[in-house]
Amino acid sequence: MIVAPDTTALRNHIPRLKEGSRCVAFVPTMGNLHAGHLALVRQARGCADAVVVSIFVNPMQFSAHEDLNTYPRTLDADIAALESAGVDVVFTPTVKDVYPEGIEAHTAIHVPVLGDALCGKGRPSHFDGVCTVVYKLFDMVKPDVAVFGEKDLQQLLIIKRMVKDLNLAIDIQSGPTQRAADGLALSSRNQYLMQAERAVAPRLWETLKACAAELKTMAGQMDLSILDAAKATLEQEGFAVDYLELRTLSTLTVSSCLSEDCALFVAARLGNTRLIDNIQITAT
Ligand code: PAF
Repeated sequence: MIVAPDTTALRNHIPRLKEGSRCVAFVPTMGNLHAGHLALVRQARGCADAVVVSIFVNPMQFSAHEDLNTYPRTLDADIAALESAGVDVVFTPTVKDVYPEGIEAHTAIHVPVLGDALCGKGRPSHFDGVCTVVYKLFDMVKPDVAVFGEKDLQQLLIIKRMVKDLNLAIDIQSGPTQRAADGLALSSRNQYLMQAERAVAPRLWETLKACAAELKTMAGQMDLSILDAAKATLEQEGFAVDYLELRTLSTLTVSSCLSEDCALFVAARLGNTRLIDNIQITAT
């Protein structure tokens, strides 16, 4: 496995990876890899001849008050895990390398509507930062396929839309959310949870699942007050709920019936940790 610490090193390796029309799959990450990331890497391995993984904590997707400085960085362990997973190239650029002119006046990619809903409301420039860095990474890595996790479902839908709108010839694939044995969706930020919060955290997924099951039984005539009841349950458990909403997958419009594919999206804080999760509900 090759570790490319900057764009120059990466540029030397990419033509070799693509030689003979070999298919290159790419998994962008911010590092601190867990079983969720490694499942995406396995998926990439299974659908391509070569796999590139990037590790880059992207300052452009963090607001001033967020956890950029404390975001967990475990580069040596990440590189060892990726070597065992059979990755061909790990790209570990510096901020200077990705944003030589800084991020203040940097061009940003904005995906309207999808990027303004849900997490886009409370984190206004977050998805612009995600799209901008993903676009730049795509340009550097030149993948045929890129794999993103369904845990960040809104991010996945936004990236798919960006790729479509900008005519990028990249097949965006998604991998299912990986969960701890008690159901909590794996996330690097789970380690911020205090012991008592970690014990309560699985209630997020349990509540979401129960809510989805109830909605499914209602089909055409949905009583959306069950979303308020689910929110109240979570608040009683100690969560501060940012949103718990049923939205369509095509436009992220708030939905009141299951006439097209939807998902329940939730974001809630436990203490200082913001957790997100979702469950997809197919229209039948
Ligand atoms: O999902 C993430 O880890 C990040 O948002 C991504 C896609 C690597 C962009 O920084």
